[in-house]
Amino acid sequence: MKTPIIETERMILRPLTLDDANDIFERWTSDDRVSKYVRWCTHTSVNDTIGWLEFETGNILSDKMYQWGFTIKDTGYLFGSGGINYNEEEGVFELGYNIMHKYWNQGYTTEAAKAILDFAVNELNQKEFVSWHAVDNPASGAVMRKCGFIYEKNEIHTKFDGVTSYDTKKHRLVVR
Ligand SMILES: CC(C)(COP(=O)(O)OP(=O)(O)OC[C@H]1O[C@@H](n2cnc3c(N)ncnc32)[C@H](O)[C@@H]1OP(=O)(O)O)[C@@H](O)C(=O)NCCC(=O)NCCS
Repeated sequence: MKTPIIETERMILRPLTLDDANDIFERWTSDDRVSKYVRWCTHTSVNDTIGWLEFETGNILSDKMYQWGFTIKDTGYLFGSGGINYNEEEGVFELGYNIMHKYWNQGYTTEAAKAILDFAVNELNQKEFVSWHAVDNPASGAVMRKCGFIYEKNEIHTKFDGVTSYDTKKHRLVVR
């Protein structure tokens, strides 16, 4: 299914486009505070962000990947992204998200994640999801728990650079 536009109370979640590259690079992919506890490494030039966007926009029709830009409803300001990707090893979708530092701790990610999960449950008929957060990144764990995820176990993750490893907490959501 094509990634749809989703409206929440304060946001419009919309598919990303290549035209978003400069905004995304300036607002969060170049920020070490945002990339510290995720698998991707800080983007050092806008070309890194373009490369990521080419991958995402190339998969906009995929039934296994749904990625949205998080925008403020009133202004259209793009400040983060997140979505669900089908995790072949787990056999369920995995939830992920990142937003620019200035917008942290205002409930935006929880609001977006709940809407994304509602879409997956109601439109994709999914009943189970997984998500991981770094042990040292409790804010992400708080988002998961506010969405109904339950801690399952600790696992080591390695960043996409293949070098840096960190301890994570794996969470699972089962919708009944
Ligand atoms: C993790 C992240 C997405 C959270 O987004 P957010 O919009 O700030 O999340 P919310 O405001 O919806 O919820 C954050 C919760 O964490 C809590 N929190 C923040 N810092 C915390 C800390 N140090 N310890 C415990 N809880 C913390 C907040 O109080 C809030 O919970 P509350 O609503 O119950 O008070 C954001 O910080 C981010 O983009 N970080 C960088 C990228 C990242 O880590 N992505 C996730 C990878 S798993």
